[in-house]
Amino acid sequence: MNTITELLAPFPRVRLAHLPTPIEALTRLSELLGGPKLYIKRDDCTGLALGGNKARKLEFYLGAARQEGADTVLITGAVQSNYVRMAAAAAAKLGMDCHVLLEERVPGVDETYRRSGNVLLDRILGAHIHSYPQGEDETGADRRLEQIAQGLRSQGKHPYIIYLSAEHTPLGALGYVNAADEIVTQITEQRLPIQRIVIASGSSLSHSGLLLGLRILGSEIPVTGVCVRRVAQLQFQRISRCVRNLEQLINLAQPVVTPEDIQVFDGPLPPGYGRLNSQVIEAIELLGRTEGILLDPVYTGKSMAGLLALLRAKRFDELSGVLFVHTGGVPALFAYEPALRGVEAGDGGWHQ
Ligand SMILES: Cc1ncc(COP(=O)(O)O)c(C=O)c1O
Repeated sequence: MNTITELLAPFPRVRLAHLPTPIEALTRLSELLGGPKLYIKRDDCTGLALGGNKARKLEFYLGAARQEGADTVLITGAVQSNYVRMAAAAAAKLGMDCHVLLEERVPGVDETYRRSGNVLLDRILGAHIHSYPQGEDETGADRRLEQIAQGLRSQGKHPYIIYLSAEHTPLGALGYVNAADEIVTQITEQRLPIQRIVIASGSSLSHSGLLLGLRILGSEIPVTGVCVRRVAQLQFQRISRCVRNLEQLINLAQPVVTPEDIQVFDGPLPPGYGRLNSQVIEAIELLGRTEGILLDPVYTGKSMAGLLALLRAKRFDELSGVLFVHTGGVPALFAYEPALRGVEAGDGGWHQ
């Protein structure tokens, strides 16, 4: 047993993800850009209803839910939330009910956004869908989940809430503490020259868990979180808090993550969460056309746009290799079809 296996052993866990996910070389993209060798961690391939980073987190939440004897899972997220879709899938797999709260986080959306992509999958997976008019009130959304849970209790059900706001224990981040172990093992076994990792940073649980896991293992690899939800300064605070809570949760004798370890970049964030810009569209097209890899409009399109911007600014020129974590989210592409109409077929048109 290594340190991380030992630290995570007390936490109940259900196996939901296909692990380990592969690390692949982005050979054509690296050649095209001419900087460090680029690699991709395929966490879009975790299985569980089209995959993504949330499968790793849900293993711990659903483990806790099962231990408590829960029969219903409650979760909140944006209308096109991947987390919600995967929680609905996990609940179905474990024979539980799932109630989802869909928050209005993105202004000016259309009918396709409301019905296609993850929303269609939520329906197929049998989720009970509730809506919440606010998109920037995490505590309010959590409170609404508590009200729904109260109603379910009065019907004799045993609900388990997966909370969103930062004041709650970041149990799901343990999935990315574990991912750090997986990545360090792959780097060692495959002798990969990786000297930096880039990952999307939203709730920050994936970023925080990964960073903490690396430092617990004694790895000094820097991690850049590309902000997809809030500006760098606020995201820095969110990660600091999450890391401290996580260190407590796993009873670390002393902190291992320093403030300098917390690195965030918010270049591609405007005009805001879930909203496209030309850098994101370029990133989606580029990965599709050089590597045959699909990115999503909300998370991995933005985080890849961040990596491309940092590479072009020559920030990583001295490095041998950079690992991009593909956190999933691809079903949302279909919901963003109207916003992606600018993406042309190969030569700009269709062949008859
Ligand atoms: C596809 C995808 N990537 C990245 C993230 C961000 O992960 P985290 O919330 O752990 O920061 C999410 C979260 O919603 C996601 O769905």
